[in-house]
Parts: sequence; structure tokens; C-alpha cells
Amino acid sequence: MEISCSIMIFTSLALALFSYLLIRKRGKQMRKLRLPPGSMGLPYIGETFQLYSQDPNVFFASRLKRYGEIFKTHVLGYPCVLLASPEAARMVLVSEAHLFKPTYPRSKEQMIGPWALFFHQDDYHARIRKLVQASLSPESLRRLVHQIEGTATAILRSWDGHVLSTFQVMKKLSFDVGILVIFGRHLSEQRKNSLENNYFIVDKGYNSFPTNFPGTLFSKAIKARKRLREILNEIMKERREREAVVEEKDLLSCFVEWRDEKGEQLRDEQISDNIIGVLFAAQDTTASVLTWIVKYLNDDPKLLMEVKAEQMAIYESNGCGRQPLTWAQTRSMPLTNRVIMESLRMASIISFTFREAVADVEYKGYLIPKGWKVMPLFRNIHHNSEFYSDPEKFDSSRFEVSPKPNTFMPFGNGVHSCPGNEIAKLEMFSFIHHLVTQYRFEVVGSHNSVEYSPFPVPKHGLPVRLWRAEHIRDSGGQ
Ligand code: HEM
Repeated sequence: MEISCSIMIFTSLALALFSYLLIRKRGKQMRKLRLPPGSMGLPYIGETFQLYSQDPNVFFASRLKRYGEIFKTHVLGYPCVLLASPEAARMVLVSEAHLFKPTYPRSKEQMIGPWALFFHQDDYHARIRKLVQASLSPESLRRLVHQIEGTATAILRSWDGHVLSTFQVMKKLSFDVGILVIFGRHLSEQRKNSLENNYFIVDKGYNSFPTNFPGTLFSKAIKARKRLREILNEIMKERREREAVVEEKDLLSCFVEWRDEKGEQLRDEQISDNIIGVLFAAQDTTASVLTWIVKYLNDDPKLLMEVKAEQMAIYESNGCGRQPLTWAQTRSMPLTNRVIMESLRMASIISFTFREAVADVEYKGYLIPKGWKVMPLFRNIHHNSEFYSDPEKFDSSRFEVSPKPNTFMPFGNGVHSCPGNEIAKLEMFSFIHHLVTQYRFEVVGSHNSVEYSPFPVPKHGLPVRLWRAEHIRDSGGQ
């Protein structure tokens, strides 16, 4: 007994010593490593001024040219390492993802809600992500095809005969689709309107300077955020009371019905933060990409005719729109699919993402110090001529062959990659189908410069005049 006790103590001490020596050796090795090349700019300010005084993509591209695929800088009060190679992006987002945690400004976390899944990387993240993925799985989306189509046609009808900002119209479309995913068909018009009114106030404040003085957009957004929470609490209460009646599993049902092994449920604040989070993640992203698609189609009449021919074949096989689009049809639109992929690449609306190193990390002989921000630069990878020839040219045919691994990441990669990619594409297929088969459109004014809201979109959100095509008007309209 005494002997086995001594062996145990000895083994534990030996293990502790071994770990200590290993950590010390690693620490020494790490200290020997160099920081990546690059400039940290002025004390405190770093290179923030340079970043904001020019297009951020020009800022990144110029440093990439000067220093290579990994470089350091200091922006917005943080030391950062920027990575512009597919392997480096994979290392941060996939293979060594445990060493890099998601990080967002405090004000954004406050506005969306601290329990939203993007702010976590533990079991809680995995649990919420599973629920979100289930409600966005192909089986769930199949059930939504018809309703998403209805949403797209209603939006187009409301645009008919007007000049409107494409981005604003697409924001409404993406919001309505987000509501469908979350609440299914179980939300009254009145509830939807009050959610929408408050959500749009929060949205404005999210992108404003975060000062909580009365009258500022930020302070109005904080108040609207509170009202959103109250409305969501009422909806959850009602849903719990008639839980058994809802047979189709929308995201709210998945959240409300979830129980762990001990029978614990998600708390109301966890559910509402994630609902607001999904609405945020779904809206401006999809709306910006749709706006770019309209621009790219407008810029290339030959491509527009080809997409129209592909969609007309489906339209006619559906009795000129008398039968609805099917899931299978949305899976077989090869040219439209390539146009969507090329638009995602060209626009790269999420040009980079942020992580923070939770330990000192070595990459290609460089040190990424613990606590530094780490930014994989998706846009620079998507616009690198090594992977995409003539990268500034819109050429959908380049996607006739699959891109090289980790060179196409419009939806990110790894544990935090976008669970909404399929629904975003379904929304795009539906919208493009009805746009090109039943409407004509023209861009009003010049649209060659870009603005940020917060993602890049053509100037003024791309004002477009839209009207019913002659063949639809003549046939009485479908
Ligand atoms: C074209 C449209 C979209 C684009 C380009 C896009 C892009 C992205 C990207 C790049 C990420 C990963 C961010 C990171 O790693 O830091 C992400 C995450 C996410 N997206 Fe999307 N997204 C789109 C539409 C949607 C839609 C429609 C939904 C939901 C209905 C959605 C829900 C989410 C969620 C919940 C996350 C966080 C996942 C996690 O942290 O585990 N997105 N998206």
C-alpha cells in the first residue's frame, strides 16, 4: 500500500516537472521567434488613420505587396497579425481554431446580446450551432422554398414601376426571409411589424458611433433593443404554451424545445440574443450580395440574356409561373449558381474576420503573440492572381472548375463558418428567377463607386427602376 502510494506521488511529481520543463522550453523557443514584418505606426494610434483614410482593401493590399502573406499592424487600439494565404486562414479557422477565439467590439456584443453564438467557442457554442444548423438544414429548407418564393415575388411586386435603392429593397427581402426561418408561418402581421420597426432602429445604431447620450442613434438602438427583447419574450411565452401544436420545426421551436441530459432548457435571454444574432447575420450580408448580383447582371447584357435563358426554361416548364419553383429546380441552375459564386468572390463583402490568439502561436517561423488580434483576409485571397486569373474581372466561367482548397471562403471556414449559406443561396436563386423572367430593370445614375453600410455596396445602394416585362403584362401577369 505504502509503496504504491509513493509510486503515485513520484509519478505525479515527475509529470509536473516534465510539463514545467516543456512549457519553459516552449516559452524560450517562442521568445526566440520574430514578430511578422510590418509597421505598428504611431504610439497608441498605430495605423488606424491610414486604415480609415483609404479603402480598407487598398490598405491591406499595399501592405501585402510590401511585406508578404503575413504582416503585423496596430489598428483600433489593438496589435494585429494579418494573414493572406489559404494555409494561414485554414490554420486560424480550422486546424488550430482552439488557439484563436472570436472577438468583437464590446458595443456590438451589447447590441446583439452576449449569448449570441458568434461570441462563444465552447460547448455552449456547439449546442446553439447544432440547433441553428438543424433549422437551416436542406430538409428544413425544402419546406421553405415556396414561402421564400412568395417573399421574393411580393418584394418584386412592390418595386414594380418605382426607382428604389436595390440594397434597401434587398434588406427588406432578407429580413422577411430571416423571420420565416426563425418563426415559420406562426407570426402575426402586427408582431412582425413591431419586430421590424425596432429591429431597423437597432440596425442603425449598430453601425453608428457607440455613445450612449440621449438622442444618439446608439442610445435609440439600446432602447429599441430592450423593446425587441420584450416582444420576443411574449412570443416565446405563447410558443411554450402551444408548443405541441407547431408541427414544423422553425428555429424558435428548436430553441424552445431543447433540453440537455438533465432536462435543463435554454433561458429566454439566451434565445432572444440568438434570434437577434441570426437576424443580424442574415440581413445585410445577403442584401449586399444580392445588390452586387443585380449590378453585375446589369453591367453585362450578354450574361443577363444567358441567365434569363436558363431561368426561362424553368419558368416555362412551370406553366409560365403557374406552378411554384421546386427545391430540385433550385439545385439545377448551373449558370445562375456560377454567377452567384463569382459575385461572392468579386464583392467579398466580408473581406476579413477577427480572432484573438489565446496563447503564443508559431506560424512559419513567426510569433503570433497571445492577446493579439488575428485577421484572415478573405478578400485578398479571393483577389489573388495566383488562384484566380485576371482577378478584377467578373468571369463566372472560372467556376466551371472547383476552386483550389481554402481559396474560396465567402462563408468563412471551420467551426464558425456560416450555417446560413444554403438559405442565402436559396433566396438568391428565387429572387433571380423571378427578376429575370418577369421584370426588366435599369440602373439609374452612375454606380461605379462603393460605399460601406457596413459591407461594401454600390453607391446609394444601386438605385434601380424596375417594371413588368411585356410578355407578363400581355398575358395578364403571373
Ligand atoms: C450571402 C450571405 C451571407 C454571407 C456572405 C455570410 C458570411 C458569413 C461568414 C463569413 C461567417 C463566418 C464569420 C467568422 O468566421 O467570423 C458567417 C457566420 C454566420 N452566419 Fe452567415 N453569411 C450570410 C448569410 C447568412 C444567413 C442567411 C444566415 C442565417 C439565416 C447566417 C447566419 C450566420 C451565423 C449564425 C453565423 C455565426 C456562426 C458561428 O459563429 O458558429 N448567415 N456568415
